[in-house]
Amino acid sequence: MLVERQQHFPDGFLWGAATAAHQTEGNNVGSDLWWVENQPGSRLAERSGDACDSYHRWAEDLDLVAGAGFTAYRFGIEWARIEPTPGHVSAAQLAHYRSMIDGCRSRGITPVVTLHHFTNPMWFAASGGWTGPDAVATFAGYVESVLPILDGVEWVCTINEPNLYSMMLSALRRPGESGDVERPAVAGLLPAPADDVSEAIIAAHHAARKVLSAVPGLRSGWTIANQNFQPATDADADLAATRAWSWPREDRFIEAARQDDFVGVQAYTRALIGADGPVDAAAHLRRTQMGWEFYPDAVGAAVRHTASIVDVPIVVTENGIATADDTERIEYTSGALSGLAAAIADGVDVRGYLHWSLLDNYEWGSYRPTFGLVAVDRTTFVRTPKPSLAWLGERASTNRLP
Ligand code: BGC
Repeated sequence: MLVERQQHFPDGFLWGAATAAHQTEGNNVGSDLWWVENQPGSRLAERSGDACDSYHRWAEDLDLVAGAGFTAYRFGIEWARIEPTPGHVSAAQLAHYRSMIDGCRSRGITPVVTLHHFTNPMWFAASGGWTGPDAVATFAGYVESVLPILDGVEWVCTINEPNLYSMMLSALRRPGESGDVERPAVAGLLPAPADDVSEAIIAAHHAARKVLSAVPGLRSGWTIANQNFQPATDADADLAATRAWSWPREDRFIEAARQDDFVGVQAYTRALIGADGPVDAAAHLRRTQMGWEFYPDAVGAAVRHTASIVDVPIVVTENGIATADDTERIEYTSGALSGLAAAIADGVDVRGYLHWSLLDNYEWGSYRPTFGLVAVDRTTFVRTPKPSLAWLGERASTNRLP
């Protein structure tokens, strides 16, 4: 008799969706990316502009999260708003984000707060950015200024995708040059980050964790872009090449989470590596709006990979698909959750699944790729839930797969 494998999730498993400040708030005018987007002749297809106007509509967003039956929401705090000028902290902006935290709690939603998600205050970028002499202390100072609003917050992500961010920063050292850098289809195929950039980012994460340890009950970690680097063939040379490729671009950052309270895993697709570097996936492969291979197994493989390096509780802080076809989103997410459930059944300690993304938002240069469980009208900002929102909400409510 065929015995069906139970696919349920641990008690207290966090179910929810994720967003980032710059991608949803709108008019993040003090940030370095706003500057880049608005440079005359910028090669970006679109500027973030009003984004989803979540700076004003966050309560509506939280109602969608709670209404779906989710128990968690990951959102970002924007450094450029908290510290618009070096050393001057805006009490009004702190109050704004504290209202969001309270808004989560009053709706029974666990807030998962990200302190840095790819954007810096323009003044920080202009004064040398992450490799400037005071970068680590300056970031730690910002984290310190946020402490008063983190009371009672259990999950805090210091720096989002530090590995991908280090690759991007190494490619673009100065904000004004970003238009000149071609982004490969899969970010993990960027050149390896420069050592000094990776070292600064890792030091900033550790400094931030030290500051955050002052808040009782707060767990801090960072959220790593898991690229699922896989050897193109079984040949030893491909295996060795994959390890060598992965270390500076991913594993080094997972290793740096060894002492952390948790580690965020973010996975969308995979990249094949051969002895001579990345191998082009066959042209016939099914692809998403990002040009990435449709690979629902990504998240299961990513949590297993992370657990093979560090023994730290895992939260899936991002996983999703850019598609105009919501049926495909459900198909992808269904496959992803099966892979995740199988990893959990095999002993991987996963505490939650936060889908990327709650909203169709600004995908770093364009609004064309749609990752959202909820569509957003670009002019009226009216939110329209897609069937996938209720579908994932049902998984959350039952805490199992059908
Ligand atoms: C980032 C998000 C991004 C998503 C899809 C991750 O790299 O954290 O900001 O929108 O993947 O590209």
